[in-house]
Amino acid sequence: QPTLAELAHRHGRYFGSATDNPELTDSAYTKILGSEFDMITPGNGMKWYATEPRQGVFDWTDGDQIVRLSRANHQRVRAHTLVWHSQLPDWLTSRQWTASELRAVLKKHILTEVRHYRGKVYSWDVVNEAFNEDGTYRDTIWYRTLGPGYIADALRWAHQADPHARLYLNDYNIEAVGPKSDAYYRLAQDLRAQGVPLNGIGLQAHLALQYGYPATVQENLARFSRLGLDTALTEVDVRMQLPATGEKLAEQATWYRDLTEACLAVRRCVGVTVWDFTDKYSWIPAVFPGEGAALPWDEQLNPKPAYAALREALR
Ligand code: G3I
Repeated sequence: QPTLAELAHRHGRYFGSATDNPELTDSAYTKILGSEFDMITPGNGMKWYATEPRQGVFDWTDGDQIVRLSRANHQRVRAHTLVWHSQLPDWLTSRQWTASELRAVLKKHILTEVRHYRGKVYSWDVVNEAFNEDGTYRDTIWYRTLGPGYIADALRWAHQADPHARLYLNDYNIEAVGPKSDAYYRLAQDLRAQGVPLNGIGLQAHLALQYGYPATVQENLARFSRLGLDTALTEVDVRMQLPATGEKLAEQATWYRDLTEACLAVRRCVGVTVWDFTDKYSWIPAVFPGEGAALPWDEQLNPKPAYAALREALR
């Protein structure tokens, strides 16, 4: 039977998964990773703490391993992520920087990393999680020290280093129309008007059954399309309070189906990525105690109702 990637391809879309280096020794896991998906996101390996652990000393080990594996499997890579407030190395967070110092640090990091992966990745999540829930700028080292212009700068530097990579802003809780997605809409309008190289908006889609389905997701995707931007569902998972029951898994399946159908209904929604594909390697239980079962394959790598629902949506 056709894979998720093959089904998505018939619609001109990709179907992706995140992965992480420690998991790559699990051959039952890599067998599915290498066959069902045609887009891969490194869950951690391209983040700042991994790639520039000491100032000016770059380490491509983890990112390269995932790029190599993806190429061997004829998969593309959504590279993740250049500018974020989390998973920064200590040398960067443990001292005070002037604006001009920090700007130089950021520029060097972006130019060096994007050049290293130039021609090898489909896209970059250039800036990750820049806004608060109410649509104000998140108070990060970047915003505090450099002001809101760091976003345009980061996009320009990334474009300079790899003119063919698709450049994204990426965030969670922006699936529905609301204050946070409105902030991205306005920022995207501004950046486009200024000629800043922005190609897309990534909607992470870390959903939870107890908070309800984001009913306006298709409308939201469509408004970004009308700005001339690509969109993608970049980190999909649908968590629930444990234990997982048949009823919750059925509800979860309809959410996976509906999200996929929303993307297919919007021409410039280019694809869907799950934030890893098996509950065995999900980030959820560590961060939300008592919650989990968020992905389309269970901890034994068996497909769940959500997997069948994805296939149904892509049929
Ligand atoms: O590398 C250390 C290891 O040395 C140590 O022994 C171990 C003990 O806890 O921790 C390891 O670091 C962990 C790291 O992942 C690598 O596995 C961190 O504790 C853990 O917090 C970190 O979690 C990652 C998380 O981002 C951090 O915020 C998840 O794997 C990763 O999936 C997750 O991904 C984010 C996206 O980048 C952005 N959107 C949200 C998404 C989920 O949080």
